[in-house]
Amino acid sequence: MNGPAASTSRPAAAAPVRLLHLEDSEPDHALVLAQLRRSGLQVAARRIETRAEFEAALEQRWDLVLSDYHLPGFTGLQALQLLRARAAAQPSAPPLPFVLVSGQIGEDTAVEAMRNGAADYLLKNNLARLAPAVEHAIDAARTQRARLAADRELQVSRRRLSELAQHLQTSVEAERHAIAREIHDDVGGSLTALKFDLDWIRRHAESPAVHQRALAALETVTNAIEASQRIMQNLRPAILEQGLVAALQWMTLRFEKRTGIACELRTGGGFQREAVGLPPGVALVAYRTAQEALTNVGKHAQAGRVVVDLTLSGGVLSLEISDDGRGLSQADLAKARSFGIRGLHERATTVGGWIDLSSGAAGTTLILSVPLQGAAPPPPDPSDPDEAENSAWSVL
Ligand SMILES: Nc1ncnc2c1ncn2[C@@H]1O[C@H](COP(=O)(O)OP(=O)(O)O)[C@@H](O)[C@H]1O
Ligand SMILES: [Mg+2]
Repeated sequence: MNGPAASTSRPAAAAPVRLLHLEDSEPDHALVLAQLRRSGLQVAARRIETRAEFEAALEQRWDLVLSDYHLPGFTGLQALQLLRARAAAQPSAPPLPFVLVSGQIGEDTAVEAMRNGAADYLLKNNLARLAPAVEHAIDAARTQRARLAADRELQVSRRRLSELAQHLQTSVEAERHAIAREIHDDVGGSLTALKFDLDWIRRHAESPAVHQRALAALETVTNAIEASQRIMQNLRPAILEQGLVAALQWMTLRFEKRTGIACELRTGGGFQREAVGLPPGVALVAYRTAQEALTNVGKHAQAGRVVVDLTLSGGVLSLEISDDGRGLSQADLAKARSFGIRGLHERATTVGGWIDLSSGAAGTTLILSVPLQGAAPPPPDPSDPDEAENSAWSVL
């Protein structure tokens, strides 16, 4: 088991092992090197013996520390602790592997060394296992380094993905905003002008036939105006300008009418009096969360009743949507083509909030929480003052 070829996984032409040897006896150092070289390991070694030398040497690159236990004014255990303290200060790099090679030190000390993270422990009078122990320690450190690097990459890539998803959420909102504005300014303006003209024709019509035609045309234009308003409302909830509570009232009423599922809105905290001035980004996130959660209840829950509860307590806005339906499973949430709830998580993050979801036999509850102080900057504000609904639409 200690033959050079049997245990080695290092390529024959590998760079020499950079070995830092804490050892106060030159003959013991020579013995260790001879043992390693006999096993076929290429070694570039340096012997040191004091704490100061050790600390200075750690500024350079090493593959492994071999250490005696008894050193001048210093012990192998202390060297190990020093190494670990340095490693703790740089969590991105694994500590240097450390192998204790000493005379008899007693089982307790050996166990303590292992517990403190030593890779191995060998007795000087039995160095047969030295080369495999060194190689194993170096391999283990290399694997750990690779795993740390992979973990780091995974974290970075997760963060990028989440940033991208958040960016998409806000760009979709900005795009909807732009389309709503165009419908409002172009289509809305023209339809309104048309309606005025038709009304004028109706009033000045001399023949009943023209009067009749003008009336019919007025009705068509009115329908077109209503359709445009509906589309705009879906693209960009103008109702939010009357406050989140008013918007949720309108949404829950429409939901109940459309689906026949009883839908109750409860408000608590400052919301009872609609006294809360929310950052527009937060109101929009809350609105979209309620919209998606209610759509899910209508589509999936087979519920008889749903409660939307909006409260503000301890500076945290909380919007809870609970149904009494069939509940959902982890498998539901893992569906490859379902992005509703995933999107809500990302959307909540854009305003410094988060989503909690719980589900059981009694139904499903989705909660949006957003701390209002120190919230993240809101996404592009889709309710500029210049967009206020003072428009030609409301004249009619
Ligand atoms: N309130 C609910 N009650 C029961 N199941 C639900 C509920 N909300 C979501 N689900 C389940 O979770 C899945 C994922 O929801 P979602 O992410 O909104 O995607 P989608 O609605 O497009 O399927 C749904 O397909 C459904 O199976
Ligand atoms: Mg959905």
